[in-house]
Amino acid sequence: MTKTGDTFEDVMAAEIGRRTVLRGGLMGAGTFLAASPFMASTAGATELPNPSPQHLGGFSSGSRSLISFAAIDTNSEDTVTVPEGYTAQPMIPWGDPIVPSGPTFNSDASNSAAEQALQFGMGHDGIAYFPLRGGLGPSSRIGLLCVNHEYTIGEQLFTEGLARNEDREITVEWTAEHTLKEQNAHGVSITEVRRHKNNYKEWETAESRYARRITPNTPMSFDGPAAGHRLLQTAMDPEGVTPIGTWNNCGNGVTPWGTYITCEENFNGYFWEETDGTADGISTEQAELNARYGVGGRGFGYWWATTDDRFRADLHPQEPNRFGWIVEIDPMDPDSTPIKHTALGRFKHEGAAFGTAANGAIVCYMGDDERFDYLYKFVGAQDWRAAKAAGVSPLAEGTLYVARFDEGSIGEWLPLVQGEGPLTAANGFVDQGDVVIKARLAADLLGATQMDRPEWTAVHPETGEMFVTCTNNSRRTEPNVANPRIENRMGHILRLLDDDGDPGSTTFTWDFFVLAGAGDGTDGSTVDAEDLFGSPDGLVIDRRGTMWIQTDGSQPDGSNNQMLACDLSTGEIRRFLVGPVDCEVTGVAFTPDLSTMFVNIQHPGDSGPADNPTETSTWPDGEGAARPRPATVAIRRVDGQMIGT
Ligand code: FEO
Ligand code: CA
Ligand code: CA
Ligand code: CA
Repeated sequence: MTKTGDTFEDVMAAEIGRRTVLRGGLMGAGTFLAASPFMASTAGATELPNPSPQHLGGFSSGSRSLISFAAIDTNSEDTVTVPEGYTAQPMIPWGDPIVPSGPTFNSDASNSAAEQALQFGMGHDGIAYFPLRGGLGPSSRIGLLCVNHEYTIGEQLFTEGLARNEDREITVEWTAEHTLKEQNAHGVSITEVRRHKNNYKEWETAESRYARRITPNTPMSFDGPAAGHRLLQTAMDPEGVTPIGTWNNCGNGVTPWGTYITCEENFNGYFWEETDGTADGISTEQAELNARYGVGGRGFGYWWATTDDRFRADLHPQEPNRFGWIVEIDPMDPDSTPIKHTALGRFKHEGAAFGTAANGAIVCYMGDDERFDYLYKFVGAQDWRAAKAAGVSPLAEGTLYVARFDEGSIGEWLPLVQGEGPLTAANGFVDQGDVVIKARLAADLLGATQMDRPEWTAVHPETGEMFVTCTNNSRRTEPNVANPRIENRMGHILRLLDDDGDPGSTTFTWDFFVLAGAGDGTDGSTVDAEDLFGSPDGLVIDRRGTMWIQTDGSQPDGSNNQMLACDLSTGEIRRFLVGPVDCEVTGVAFTPDLSTMFVNIQHPGDSGPADNPTETSTWPDGEGAARPRPATVAIRRVDGQMIGT
C-alpha cells in the first residue's frame, strides 16, 4: 500500500521522480513465482507504490511463508546468536589445518609461514559447498568447502603483533618470513568436510585428496581477450599468460558447471609505488591506470614490497594489471590450474552471481566495490553447454556490459566493446584487451551510473530477478536515480530484471528493494524498525527463494553485524543471526538439502583501522583465548529440517 507521508516518499520523491511500472517481460517471463512481488505490483498498479516490498500490500499469495523461525533481536554479545531451535558450530577457524593430519594451530600464533600454507587463512569471506557423491547422489553429509580469505590482521597473525609508528610504518624487523606468512594466510582454502562420525549433528574436516591451499604464490593462467596482452607482460612472465597467485579474495560465485569463482577485490593495496608514477619504466598509460585503480604510495600498509620485489610497482609497473580479475577454480580437480577470465573485466570484483540467457549463454552479474564505481554484467558468446561440450570455457569469450540506471525504473546495459562508441584507439583502447584491462576507464567514457559501492549480487533461481547491495557511500554529495541518499551511511539493495525475463537482454527494469537504516523515520530507510540493519554486503538467495542479507559496517543501533532472511515471495525480513563483537558477517553456503548453512565470521575483534585493530573479541575460542579467529559457523536446526522454514 502507498503510505502517504512515508519518509521515503517525502525525502526522495524529488530525486527519484515517479517510478513507472516495470515494463515488458515480467508478465511474459513465465517462470515467475505466483507470489513474486514484481508480478503483483505490475498486475495491480501503474507505478510502484513504495520501493520496499515490505510495504507493498496485497501481493501475498496466501501460500506458506518461506521463513518461519522466530526473529532475534540485535545484540552486542561476543558470540554468534541464532534463533531458538538452531545451533551454530564454529569450524575451520584461521590457523586450523585443512586436513586433520596437518600442522596444529599454536594459540600464541607462532606457526611458521610454511605451516600457514597448510592451514586455513584469515579473513573468511565468500564460501561454497560442493557435494561429493554419496550412494544416493549429491551428498549433504560429505562435501568440499571452498573458502575465500580476504585479508590479514598482522596484530593477530603474529605472536608479537605488529608495532607501528605514527606514520603507519612497521617498527618490528620485517622479514621475508613475515611476508610469506601473510601471503599464505590469503587466498582460498579447499577442505573436505563431513558430518562428525561421533556427533552426527556437527561437522569435521577429513583427510582428502581434494584439500589444497591457493595463495598469492599459486601459478595461474589467463584466458580471454587480454591473455598475452602487452599490459600483462612482466619480466617474470614475458608472454603475459601465467600470473602468479590471487589475493584479497572477497565474494564468490558458483558456476552452473560446478566450479568455484573467487573474486579479486582490493588487490591494489598490496603494491608499493612511492614515485607517484614517475619511476623509470612507468608509462603515462600505466600511471593513469594506477591512479584509477588506486595503486600508489604504500597501499594499505602491507610490507610485502620490502622483501618481495613483485610488490614494487615502481620496479614491476605492470604487475598490478594481473590482478582485479575473476578467477575460476575447479575444486574437483586438485591438480587444475586456476584461470583468470579476462573477458569479465578488471576492477575490484566483489562477487559473481550467475544466470543463463534465453539463448543458453552464461550471464554473470558483478559489482565493483568502490565509491562511485559500477555494476557490470558479462554475457557469454554462445550456449554455455555447447561451449563446455566443445572444450571451450564459457567465460573465455563474450560481451562485458556496465549498467546505466535511468528515470522511470528502466536502464540499459552498455557494451564495453572495442571500436564501439568512445572505446577507440584514439582514446587508448586499441584492442579488446585494452578495454577489459582498463574496464573502469572504459565504463567512465560510456556514462555508466556511479553507484554507492556495489558489493554482492544475487539472482533469484526462478524469477531471474537480480539483487545488488550498495553497501554505503558517506562521500556522496549528489544523489542520482539509483543512489538517492546523500552521505549514504546505511546503504540500499536494488532489484533489477532484464527485459523479456532474459538475462541476456541489454535493457532492464529496476526498483529499490530496500533502503537500509533504523526504520524509525529519521534516515530515509524503508525497513521496519524491528528489522533495522545497515551496510548490506553479502547477499545470497537459496534455492527456495529466501534471500540472506549480511552486513559489514555500523549498525543503526550500534549493535554487532548481522544476517537477515528475506522471503522474496512476500518481502518479509527477519533477523536470523548476530555475529560476535567487531566482526563482519559474510558468505553463505548450503548443503543441497538445506539442512546445514555455512556462514563466515570475518575479523572478530577488529574494532579499528586495519593497521591498528584493538582486540575486543575472543571468539570463537572463548574467554582466556589470546586472540580472536575468523571462522565458519555451521548452522543447523535441532530437528534437522531445512534452514529458515
Ligand atoms: Fe570485500 Fe567489498 O567487501
Ligand atoms: Ca564484502
Ligand atoms: Ca563491505
Ligand atoms: Ca520483519
